[in-house]
Amino acid sequence: MALSTEAEGPIGPAEPSAPAEHFDAVIAAEQRIEPRDWMPDAYRATLVRQIAQHAHSEIIGMQPEGNWLSRAPSLRRKAILLAKAQDEAGHGLYLYAAAETLGVDRAELTEKLISGRQKYSSIFNYPTLTFADVGVIGWLVDGAAICNQVPLCRCSYGPYARAMVRVCKEESFHQRQGYELLMTLMRGTEAQRRMVQDAVDRWWWPSLMMFGPPDGDSPNTAQSMAWRIKRHTNDELRQRFVDMTVPQAEHLGVTLPDPALRWNEQRDSWDFGEPDWSELQQVIKGQGPCNAQRIDRRRAAHEDGAWVREAATAYADKSKGQSSE
Ligand SMILES: [Fe+2]
Ligand SMILES: [Fe+2]
Repeated sequence: MALSTEAEGPIGPAEPSAPAEHFDAVIAAEQRIEPRDWMPDAYRATLVRQIAQHAHSEIIGMQPEGNWLSRAPSLRRKAILLAKAQDEAGHGLYLYAAAETLGVDRAELTEKLISGRQKYSSIFNYPTLTFADVGVIGWLVDGAAICNQVPLCRCSYGPYARAMVRVCKEESFHQRQGYELLMTLMRGTEAQRRMVQDAVDRWWWPSLMMFGPPDGDSPNTAQSMAWRIKRHTNDELRQRFVDMTVPQAEHLGVTLPDPALRWNEQRDSWDFGEPDWSELQQVIKGQGPCNAQRIDRRRAAHEDGAWVREAATAYADKSKGQSSE
């Protein structure tokens, strides 16, 4: 399927001599900026930071659930979980490829991740204590990711927007499989129902924090919205997630651990309590329960994979030599 708009030529009233005007016109017309188009340095830097952080989150995000691959309760559950982890690896690859269209090198991004100079989503610094966590991650964490990512399908940067279309389809599937696992546990024994409730209690607040700090503490949001990278503020997305999730929790038969949660008829939305923002700051600073473990594991995997990269490079060089003969 040809999704590229490159062949469509210049958009709007732009002249080649006015690249900044062309950029502004494309943004105003809700069209896409493509890799060869001129773009402001700050737009490029914002996208590199955001796409890299997103790619790193997909890759690091394999670890918490990967913890349960060898201990899944049945072959069926293991196959589902394995497929999900592989999807997340794929998401990471699409996103690194999207970042490369902005002129950065993937090896450099990996180096920045393992040296702590680039971040990944703070949610993946929490441990997965029981198999119910696998279901709750699918339901809440992939659910929050969907709220964040569906609007990114309309992001002004073409390669990022196109990558998001496929990623979102797969995230929806992850959310459904997580919910199905939880429904199965809830139909099980009392101990299994307690296990689900315990997992919900531990993951609810960190899931709300996935949308980032409150709007008042999110200085980059206005510029990202003006550039049509972002479509909604952190608080708008958080509200959307709560409104989507509360009825699902009721249907499942679990309690969300927030005494302030109540329906607000005037707003036609759920009121909810304030997450502990100091906890988010601590996790971002590297002091979450699993930060060090996640990076150590990523670094070890990168080092263990060195021979694969060397072999691939040697093979590519050899093939080049043969084709030029
Ligand atoms: Fe993903
Ligand atoms: Fe996912």
